[in-house]
Amino acid sequence: MTSSSPQQRPPPPAGIVVSGLHKTYGNGNSAVIALRDVQLRVEPGEVVGLVGPSGSGKSTLLKCLGAVLTPSGGQIELGGQVVFDGDHWLHPDLTRLRREQIGFIFQSPYLLPFLSVRDNVALLAMLLGRSNQEARAAADQLLADLDMAHRADAMPNRLSGGEQQRVAIARALVNRPPILLADEPTAPLDSPRAMAVMDLLERLAGQMGTSVIVVTHDEKILPRLQRIYAVRDGVVGEGRRERVRDAPLRFLSRRLRKT
Ligand SMILES: Nc1ncnc2c1ncn2[C@@H]1O[C@H](COP(=O)(O)OP(=O)(O)O)[C@@H](O)[C@H]1O
Ligand SMILES: [Mg+2]
Repeated sequence: MTSSSPQQRPPPPAGIVVSGLHKTYGNGNSAVIALRDVQLRVEPGEVVGLVGPSGSGKSTLLKCLGAVLTPSGGQIELGGQVVFDGDHWLHPDLTRLRREQIGFIFQSPYLLPFLSVRDNVALLAMLLGRSNQEARAAADQLLADLDMAHRADAMPNRLSGGEQQRVAIARALVNRPPILLADEPTAPLDSPRAMAVMDLLERLAGQMGTSVIVVTHDEKILPRLQRIYAVRDGVVGEGRRERVRDAPLRFLSRRLRKT
């Protein structure tokens, strides 16, 4: 490995800053405006929620931030670096950007069917240049944290939906990314397991300074979020920076339904 290996470089500064972001799918009569002039900011170490009805644009926003989808306009800054501006990506290598800086937990697990659970998690660490042994050790640690150690040698098609989701969560965390984007990560999980996932996300944020955005409908985890943004018809609730950690849950969910 040369001096560009990830272990030798200081970790890039974390943080997400979005300004004036737009996304329109299609064009002409069939155009769907999915995001309208979105402003959003997540500091290093923050765990922030994105809450809103189905079809409001939450997944679209997350995919734009994760460089999975190209926005129609606006600006995205990740870790102090402007990566998208106006109508094009400024980062020269989006695959590398995603691998090094972004952990993405999709709504579906998308595990590789021909790799064991352990190797599904370890693969991204191997692709970043860690030895197979190191990558598998990191995978085993995360699988243990998610109560999945006993399934490490299993193939994905032997797992339940909730187990597959926990593997996908471990995979997103294995490189300790400075940005973590999670689309309804706890939806298929029962309450204790959802809390274990939130524990892991909080630990990553607290120890590594990761900026975490969690899309969720899950009332159980709302109190675990430091702030929420409310999304409706592609508009992201401006200035909704209330601290919700101590808010009574019933009051909060009533307020969310009204937005
Ligand atoms: N690939 C696509 N092509 C066209 N329209 C899409 C596509 N993906 C999402 N949309 C539309 O964009 C809007 C926002 O969708 P989405 O971001 O998936 O919302 P959410 O995640 O909040 O449910 C919806 O009107 C949806 O139908
Ligand atoms: Mg969605």
